[in-house]
Amino acid sequence: MARDGAIYACQSCGATHPKWAGQCAACGAWNTLVEEGQVRPGGLAPTRGARSRGLAFEGLESLSPPSLRIATGVDEFDRVCGGGVVPGSAILLAGDPGVGKSTLLLQVCGEATKRGARCAYISGEEATEQIRARAHRMGLGATPVQLAAETSLRDIVDGLKRERFDLVVIDSVQTLWSDAHEAGPGSVTQVRACAGELVRLAKKRGIAIILVGHVTKDGQIAGPRVVEHMVDAVLAFEGERGYPFRILRGAKNRFGATDEIGVFEMGDSGLAEVKNPSSLFLNQGGERAAGAAVFAGIEGSRPVLVEFQALVAPSVYGTPRRTVVGWDAGRLAMVMAVLEARCGLGFASRDVYLNVAGGLRISEPAADLAAAAALASSALDCALPQACVVFGEISLSGDIRPVSRTEIRLKEAAKLGFSRALASGATDGGGVAVTNVTRLADAVRRIGDQAWD
Ligand code: TYD
Ligand code: MG
Repeated sequence: MARDGAIYACQSCGATHPKWAGQCAACGAWNTLVEEGQVRPGGLAPTRGARSRGLAFEGLESLSPPSLRIATGVDEFDRVCGGGVVPGSAILLAGDPGVGKSTLLLQVCGEATKRGARCAYISGEEATEQIRARAHRMGLGATPVQLAAETSLRDIVDGLKRERFDLVVIDSVQTLWSDAHEAGPGSVTQVRACAGELVRLAKKRGIAIILVGHVTKDGQIAGPRVVEHMVDAVLAFEGERGYPFRILRGAKNRFGATDEIGVFEMGDSGLAEVKNPSSLFLNQGGERAAGAAVFAGIEGSRPVLVEFQALVAPSVYGTPRRTVVGWDAGRLAMVMAVLEARCGLGFASRDVYLNVAGGLRISEPAADLAAAAALASSALDCALPQACVVFGEISLSGDIRPVSRTEIRLKEAAKLGFSRALASGATDGGGVAVTNVTRLADAVRRIGDQAWD
């Protein structure tokens, strides 16, 4: 029942509704509407007596010199931010609980203080003693990072106004609460209000603020999406369960490119930066079996070689299985359809498994040919040449379209000891001989006949 003036906010997408309902009409999530405060009587009508200050317009040319970025010293992190964090900006670091957000940011603070930045780490989740113990384990025990365990927004804002910091980490935005709002911590109203206040503080005092946001699937607490539009940059920290690799991905960045990734490896003493990700995602040593194809991809500005592994096996059940890890299931369906329609490969009564080794998620269209080659190689039981990389985009007509930045891909392949490439529109270079194919059927025939020259 709607009480007079009550508003109901969806804890998943943040949409507000005048009435309670089982399902949010905006995002379709179930059981996520929670009553949050009252609409002020009179709604958005201007408060009597309030006077507007008008607008002060400014020109495009800069009045003050552009502020220098703070290089934190964790290079993988700095690169994803666009070359360091910008003073006066707010960054949201979003990720699943337990992926390593607190670890990464403690490391960022520790390294940044070594370079002279004044850093504060404010945690609403752990006691300072716990954070200190973790810092010691990570070898950062002697760095002058200022710690605080606090959840009250008022105390945090007052505290930050009194001291001068360059970089402040708030872990996490979902534990904060502001006494100006009735709703509980973690609710849309609280998360939005607290994040808004901190973003304003960042801009006003020139502090770089990093907010941690837990991604939640069940809508128990408000997700980072509520905050995404307020901050200057959104970084997603991802990792597959069972793999030590963690990938930092820029999802939004007002100060740099968004397709950049940073690669880390979680170990006993924190996160180690992985400078050469290709060596990590390649299945090294041993023969490359039928069903494996090495994709020469580009993530952000860096080339990354990663192995696509496919298994095509007779299906035991009536409905064949299609399982894909690390790639898009829709894209797999399309590539399989093209292989069936244009190349005569049948998958009707066969299970298909496709896996991107190492836990990386690939979204580049250039990976189409690598996936197709792995599938064809498994279906025909013919291995690709040992030292061969693959890249190319497949169209529905069965054509293979050239992709961008082929030289960088080939250079990386050569660096890692590859001497062949199956691609489209590329020229031999750096010791890599390219077999150019313009039709997928031609590529499949070459795999079946082992014809590479
Ligand atoms: P944490 O940073 O607490 O995750 P989040 O803040 O995203 O919830 O990291 C949690 C996991 O990381 C935990 O399961 C233990 C692991 N870990 C290590 O393996 N090595 C380490 O040095 C640290 C600090 C954590
Ligand atoms: Mg944490």
